[in-house]
Amino acid sequence: ASNLAVRHYLQFTDFSADEYAYLLERSAFLKAKFKRYETWHPLHDRTLAMIFEKNSTRTRLSFEAGIHQLGGHAVFLNTKDTQLGRGEPVEDAAQVISRMTDIIMIRTFGQDIIERFAAHSRVPVINGLTNEYHPCQVLADIFTYVEHRDSIKGKTVAWVGDANNMAYTWIQAAEILDFKVHFSAPSTYQLDQKMLSPNAKKHLTIFENPIDACRGADLVTTDVWTSMGYEAENQIRLKAFKGWMVNDDLMTVANSGALFMHCLPAHRGEEVSASVIDGPQSVVWDEAENRLHVQKALMEFLLCGKL
Ligand code: CP
Ligand code: NVA
Repeated sequence: ASNLAVRHYLQFTDFSADEYAYLLERSAFLKAKFKRYETWHPLHDRTLAMIFEKNSTRTRLSFEAGIHQLGGHAVFLNTKDTQLGRGEPVEDAAQVISRMTDIIMIRTFGQDIIERFAAHSRVPVINGLTNEYHPCQVLADIFTYVEHRDSIKGKTVAWVGDANNMAYTWIQAAEILDFKVHFSAPSTYQLDQKMLSPNAKKHLTIFENPIDACRGADLVTTDVWTSMGYEAENQIRLKAFKGWMVNDDLMTVANSGALFMHCLPAHRGEEVSASVIDGPQSVVWDEAENRLHVQKALMEFLLCGKL
């Protein structure tokens, strides 16, 4: 049976602005502890199950290192080697895995899969990327923005590129944390209106031209043109997205001091020029590192509450 008291992190809207304020502060605290090599084991003897139905470098490593640093242990599961790959129902897998572990992270395809899993899980479930959302990454990105600048409230984030999981998560975050998103994508790759909340329009402006989206931005961000699961469309996407590369022309019209972010992995010469991703405004390595720190705060919060 599902346990309604259990909190999950399936999309950015699962936490309030106050909870994000706590998580951002806690991430900074845990990061500082980590840098000082201080032992902190609030999740001693706890087990994290990590289920991957898609490839990963950062997500796997940051969750595995993160639970270890908190005193717990990670088990890596993938579709190929588990019964999930042979058709065991997601609901059954959730019942079983959640009886043996304390917290579960899943990277999968449709958001409906993680929702079905969570509905049958006795323990917290974390979204490690679905086709629709990537909340852990946007949490790390916002933490990175705060570290380099200050509160993201009232700021403008320019999204240049595909209407993908990262884009939808940024739009959700804008509503909760009260900032603006400027979105620009080719006409055939626009946002699905059904995915947007009724209030999204207050925080979201759509631009035909990527240059206009970047004007006045405090943060410029993009992502691959072809996300995992859409590989068959790669050739047609390469053509369609030409003109949506974040390059120096786009960064020049952004606010001075604007940051560049990319969740990685990146393709230099496609969605971003080498000059930008390897340039002085880019904070991509901090974003990647911060996955570790924010997810430690997230796991601690889901299992222990506010400490
Ligand atoms: N950004 C991100 O989630 O990277 P991985 O696909 O390597 O986990
Ligand atoms: N949008 C990309 C992000 C990878 C971390 C994808 O879904 O493949």
